[in-house]
Amino acid sequence: MSFLEYAPAPESKAILNLRDSYGLFIDGEFVDGGGKSFHTISPADESPIAEIAGASDEDVDRAVAAARRAHDKVWSKMSGRDRGKYLFRIARLVQERARELAVAESLDNGKPIKESRDVDVPLVASWFFYYAGWADKLDYAGLGANPRSLGVAAQIIPWNFPLLMLAWKIAPALAAGNTVVLKPAETTPLTALIFAEILQQADLPAGVVNIITGAGSTGATLVRHPDVDKVAFTGSTGVGRDIAKAIAGTDKKVTLELGGKAANIVFDDAPIDQAVEGIVNGIFFNQGHVCCAGSRLLVQESIHDDVIDRLKQRLSTLRLGDPLDKNTDIGAINSAAQLARIRELTAVGEAEGAERWTADCAIPEKGFWFAPTIFTGVEASHRIARDEVFGPVLSVLTFRTPAEAIAKANNTPYGLSAGIWSDKGSRILAVADKLRAGVVWANTFNRFDPSSPFGGYKESGYGREGGRHGLTAYLKGASA
Ligand code: NAI
Ligand code: MG
Repeated sequence: MSFLEYAPAPESKAILNLRDSYGLFIDGEFVDGGGKSFHTISPADESPIAEIAGASDEDVDRAVAAARRAHDKVWSKMSGRDRGKYLFRIARLVQERARELAVAESLDNGKPIKESRDVDVPLVASWFFYYAGWADKLDYAGLGANPRSLGVAAQIIPWNFPLLMLAWKIAPALAAGNTVVLKPAETTPLTALIFAEILQQADLPAGVVNIITGAGSTGATLVRHPDVDKVAFTGSTGVGRDIAKAIAGTDKKVTLELGGKAANIVFDDAPIDQAVEGIVNGIFFNQGHVCCAGSRLLVQESIHDDVIDRLKQRLSTLRLGDPLDKNTDIGAINSAAQLARIRELTAVGEAEGAERWTADCAIPEKGFWFAPTIFTGVEASHRIARDEVFGPVLSVLTFRTPAEAIAKANNTPYGLSAGIWSDKGSRILAVADKLRAGVVWANTFNRFDPSSPFGGYKESGYGREGGRHGLTAYLKGASA
């Protein structure tokens, strides 16, 4: 055992109180689904966790009808102050059950427990606390003379931050007086179903939030439902496009949060050790399953070799393995399909002539795993510089001048986020001003706060989530 190895420190699963099978959560109760059920598995060892109901078209109808009734009769009529009380209650229950939610999230998704425990779940609670505070202030927030809810919101979320994306969607919708039908991703429904139990504990009126599970086709039926007033989607650009087409010409409002290929720009005056930590956090956090991941490193040519040497050294110390182990830095890839996609794109990277380096770490026998990987000598035209890999894979490009850095950073069909590392404040501001990205981090990366709006340009989608801006997407006639 070298000094870098740690004794196993797995978090206990004893805190979980899982059912063998979960129904759909409609009108305040768990009910059977009319569609085909499926199993959610742990991507770390491929073992089944629970059987999950599949929603049929009739179930989608029932869920939308429950949300409509709850909106028209209860939730939109309730005072903002009272809605806020429910949201505060939900936030406190999330805190009370934080450990259980973190264990369930790591089990179902494969992300390291230290991330679900220290990042995902605390942010979930803070999102509900934050929007709880807005519920009684909508009339005084410059959101228009008489801000009104839109009605029923159809919300579709992905598998990379299952509970956090649920919070991003549900908290502002409810604060603004809307009701919700939410569909979690098929590989990670578990924490949404535990959240449904929390809603029962909070005595949230029936039908205000409905959670239906199923495949992409369930999502497609939901967004097309004629009685849905608002669609909010986070996921792939392809599905985002399909949704935009499906609702074109209807009165539905829509926000789309899609892919990204963020540039993380390191200038020669940057504090290199901090920048290396930021590069690691930018692309290896959550196995790189992050839409705003810093997947393209743009490093000034004069410091390229030094940065890459230090980065490789740092990556050699990361521990890959059991997501429930408190020492784990890199967990499992979420699904076999995602692993296949990462393998395909990295093979293309090699074939196109970039140089591949992979951290030397033991890969567990069962489950879906991919060791941290860097490509150097990447050209802007390479697919690994253009396509979203959505895995622990960094593409490194170089630049000589700030103008070249800006041109390369903006040379992408996406525009969700970017990072700048420099000692010089004036340079950071000047460069940030020219980047076509919704979020720009300076001397940090992947920082999230409920008060800060988040969203993209170009193929990264439209609309903003978070902050006061996030409320406008759920109110009639409001603009940020
Ligand atoms: P996806 O976009 O197919 O899945 C996201 C959600 O949309 C899931 O809940 C899914 O059931 C639902 N869905 C699928 N087809 C639908 C349809 N036609 N109508 C309505 N809902 C539908 O993403 P997938 O296939 O899991 O991942 C593929 C790639 O997408 C990833 O490799 C990654 O590049 C990107 N992605 C980006 C995310 C982001 O945060 N922006 C999140 C997840 C994936
Ligand atoms: Mg799963």
